[in-house]
Amino acid sequence: MARLPSTAANFHLAIVLCLLHHLINDYLLADAAIVEHTFHVGNLSVQRLGQSQVITAVNGQFPGPKIEARDGDTVVVHVVNLSPYNLSIHWHGILQRLSCWADGPNMVSQCPIRPAAGTYTYRFNVTGQEGTLWWHAHVSFLRATVYGALILHPAAPSSYPFPTPHGEATILLGEWWNVSVVDVERQALLMGAGPNNSVALTINGLIGAGGGGGSENSSSSSSSQYELAVQRGRTYLLRIINAALNYELFFKVANHSFTVVAADACYTDPYHTDVIVIAPGQTVDALMRADADPGRRYYMAAQVYQSLANATYSAATTALLTYLPDASGSDDEQPTLMPTMPAFNDSATAQSFYASLTGLLQDGVPLHVDTRMLVTFGLGATPCASAQTLCNRTLGSVAASMNNVSFQLPTTMSLLEAHMRGAPDGVYTRDFPDRPPVMFDFTGDAMAANRSFMLTSKGTKVKTLRYNETVEVVLQNTAVLGAENHPLHLHGFNFFVLAQGPGNFNAHRHVRKYNLVNPQQRNTVAVPGGGWAVIRFTADNPGVWIMHCHLDAHLPFGLAMAFEVEDGPTPDAVLPPPPPDYPRC
Ligand code: C2O
Repeated sequence: MARLPSTAANFHLAIVLCLLHHLINDYLLADAAIVEHTFHVGNLSVQRLGQSQVITAVNGQFPGPKIEARDGDTVVVHVVNLSPYNLSIHWHGILQRLSCWADGPNMVSQCPIRPAAGTYTYRFNVTGQEGTLWWHAHVSFLRATVYGALILHPAAPSSYPFPTPHGEATILLGEWWNVSVVDVERQALLMGAGPNNSVALTINGLIGAGGGGGSENSSSSSSSQYELAVQRGRTYLLRIINAALNYELFFKVANHSFTVVAADACYTDPYHTDVIVIAPGQTVDALMRADADPGRRYYMAAQVYQSLANATYSAATTALLTYLPDASGSDDEQPTLMPTMPAFNDSATAQSFYASLTGLLQDGVPLHVDTRMLVTFGLGATPCASAQTLCNRTLGSVAASMNNVSFQLPTTMSLLEAHMRGAPDGVYTRDFPDRPPVMFDFTGDAMAANRSFMLTSKGTKVKTLRYNETVEVVLQNTAVLGAENHPLHLHGFNFFVLAQGPGNFNAHRHVRKYNLVNPQQRNTVAVPGGGWAVIRFTADNPGVWIMHCHLDAHLPFGLAMAFEVEDGPTPDAVLPPPPPDYPRC
């Protein structure tokens, strides 16, 4: 029989543990810093594809400034709006515990920061978060150019749950229009149809070969594309962010492969792959070993992934990977190696990547569920509004919905302000349904032709949750206006993705597939086109949190809803009042 330690030994152990605990805490807290930035947002004229374009940008930079903080730090960003547009900025993936005021979605957590030098200071801490996130404008299509990386380092330097890489690089993937993106959105709303496609993809704001405009000539394009120089034998952490407005992307580097170690700033079990699949809003941290022939140059390439049948847009762009010490100067006679990309509609590759990730840290998959919801979503139609002068009167205006409610932003007051005042009347209603109004074959082919399922009603409906309630949501894509993968993003929480699959969710068959052991945690899940995904989270953060499709084409059409989370019983579970400079309408 094992001998129990004596009481005295226990006591000493307790003291040692206690001291150790204090030492670690002191070390962490003493180091917690305030990371402060000022964002001047205004017009910037840039050259792309041989023409000059005025964009909205932060501090004259495109992409915008990178914010770096450590777990435990407080981030303070003073935003000054010198642009001609209403503005708000969202810190995508930041949990915003007790700081919903700083979340940023226009008319959800705040009224916009007005043009002509309106200001607002976003203040939040990043406790308990590590990895790659990003920030972006959360009003109209402005996030096309108003975005940047938000990197959260571990509190203790390099204390990653994987071997410390020799270096790291941020890879921001985006889309480029040759016109004002605000006009692109305005035009789409007037037509009641999808917006015009971008003309190119970007990597770190630059357009490389194959990136539109037919700049296949590598000598002219190489000067304008992003270049990452590496040393042979070293390992690099690539922090890949999909900041594109409307397209999921494949990402590859010729002759190199990756080990995925995190997604959406949640560590994953190491996952080996030679292709990364990433939806708008998502991030992937991947280790890449520089183990190829250092005498050659390699393209890294991003290419559109299309889940929608008969879609044709298949843009791609490149950046360069070169080996030091020669870097770009190395052996010019040999052509730069291009990776073999998946077909632009290769859903098997996309789905296999999305479904293969598992979570490394199992901090609390809720096993008990208080509230279960089945939420159908997709595109449909509403009759043209009179202001939509270009709308097709026969087909109607494209609308998107969740449980047949097409989400409308309020106009007089933000949802959060109305919530704080305890006066939602005239701003929102608390009747977002737990189920769709009718059950039908959501993903069957017959649906595409059945116009009776297309009509949606508009509303600003929230689902109210008690503090600490556990919630399971079956996210069911519909095929009413074409089966398409929609990346759904939830503000204020990371959720566990328990399962996903094609067709209609069937509790009987699919509950058995739930991964309750090591599911991936994310803030954005790419729900398979004509399929479903099941997420679970604990509503432990009071405030109003929007859940929406991160394809910007679908957000103004109403593919969104919001959760209203009540205050908890203790002072540390109550949302404090808004800061003094909180923008009101
Ligand atoms: Cu990255 Cu509500 O968005």
